[in-house]
Amino acid sequence: MTFPASLGVEEIRRRAAALGPWFHNIDLGGVRTAPDHFLGDYPAVKWRGFAHAIPADLTGRSVLDIGCNGGFYSIEMKRRGAARVLGIDSDEDYLAQARFAAEATGCDIEFRRLSVYDLGALGERFDLVLFMGVLYHLRHPLLALDLIHEHVAGDLLVFQSMQRGSAEVAPLREDYDFFETAPFDAPAWPKLHFVERRYAHDQTNWWVPNRACAEAMLRSAGFAVTAHPEPEVYLCRRVAAPEGGGAVYPARGGGA
Ligand SMILES: C[S@@+](CC[C@H](N)C(=O)[O-])C[C@H]1O[C@@H](n2cnc3c(N)ncnc32)[C@H](O)[C@@H]1O
Repeated sequence: MTFPASLGVEEIRRRAAALGPWFHNIDLGGVRTAPDHFLGDYPAVKWRGFAHAIPADLTGRSVLDIGCNGGFYSIEMKRRGAARVLGIDSDEDYLAQARFAAEATGCDIEFRRLSVYDLGALGERFDLVLFMGVLYHLRHPLLALDLIHEHVAGDLLVFQSMQRGSAEVAPLREDYDFFETAPFDAPAWPKLHFVERRYAHDQTNWWVPNRACAEAMLRSAGFAVTAHPEPEVYLCRRVAAPEGGGAVYPARGGGA
């Protein structure tokens, strides 16, 4: 790894500390940004579980990292040769970390403050979209997936969500009778668990799907799962959204 000559270890240590606390533990030339992370060496430990499923050579490709946080995945995508990487996040403090991490690792990455709900403003599709660890932080998770499909997904989507509940998946049927209520009680039924107050001391955790629900939401938004390399991670291809699906915001047509 080459570092800009101007950034010595002491300067990296000082600036990393000033930008903390970090959620992403990134190795900046021996300086670890979150060495005491409650999930261990995170997200490197997560990345090791699915890195093999992502194209090894991204030369010439464009990548959008939604909810980029401290920039760990944006940097990994740049290291795989992506021509353009754009990281967006709603939190300016995390973006400042990401900009510094990119500078310290010598990666040319653009970072911009933007909410997933405002993706339409980009006016651009990307070959690879990362939507990792964001879904359960949203009050409107299916809308976010619809908007990704509608506005920015060009081909591949890498999706990750915390999951709780059963890992069973019920076979998908076309319809159910009104008086058939038992399927709703089955652990394998798609369930999105609502968190009214806090989960893991975090009041931004709103909706946590079980496995069946994560997969159903992806399908319903027009993403076909092509690989499931790690329990929480899905590699998907953008396909036509099923009938009745699609983004409802901003409303189309512009009528009164
Ligand atoms: C758990 S972190 C996941 C970070 C990274 N993607 C990963 O997988 O390690 C969630 C990130 O999503 C960002 N976020 C939350 N709501 C968002 C929104 N509406 N639009 C964009 N980013 C959002 C947070 O600021 C935070 O950086």
